[in-house]
Amino acid sequence: MKKLSILLVTGALLSPFWMSTASAQFAKPEDAIKYRQSAFVVLASQFGRMQPTLKGQVPYDAVAIKANVALVQTLSTLPWSAFGSGTQGNSSAKPEVWSDAAGFKAAQTKFEGAVVKLSAAADAGDLDKLRAAFGDVGASCKACHDSYRVKK
Ligand code: HEC
Repeated sequence: MKKLSILLVTGALLSPFWMSTASAQFAKPEDAIKYRQSAFVVLASQFGRMQPTLKGQVPYDAVAIKANVALVQTLSTLPWSAFGSGTQGNSSAKPEVWSDAAGFKAAQTKFEGAVVKLSAAADAGDLDKLRAAFGDVGASCKACHDSYRVKK
């Protein structure tokens, strides 16, 4: 334990300035970028795989959808702590993520609110509500990307 705390203290002293922000868990800006991009990739995959159900291509399995939405909800919390200051680097995040931090936060809050509604629809086992909520979540992804992500 003593060794561990010495290591932790030494680590803190050696940290570059940007680590004093919420991104303290990343050793380098590239690590934060990789983390949030990976989180988005998994989020997008987990979110998108509900589409066949919503399109009526496979039967509605309420238990499986509920489990999937629970994962989406957990994943939706991951990227944000990896947007600490000084982590724009070579990423697809626009400078506005940091220069308009309040707007970025608002887009995040809107998205998280839409995911809460998706979760309620999954709990209710209501396919129509699920479809509508899925559309709202998708729109909130797009709204944030339109303002804060570089188009590729
Ligand atoms: C509040 C803003 C915001 C919301 C909401 C958001 N994203 Fe993103 N997303 C970003 C930003 C910014 C990037 C660029 C990150 C980077 O390159 O470091 C990104 C990148 C991505 C990427 C590319 C990752 C890569 O490989 O580089 C995918 C895929 C993605 N988002 C999917 C989604 C999906 C799906 C949703 C909704 C379910 C979503 N995003 C919601 C801001 C957002």
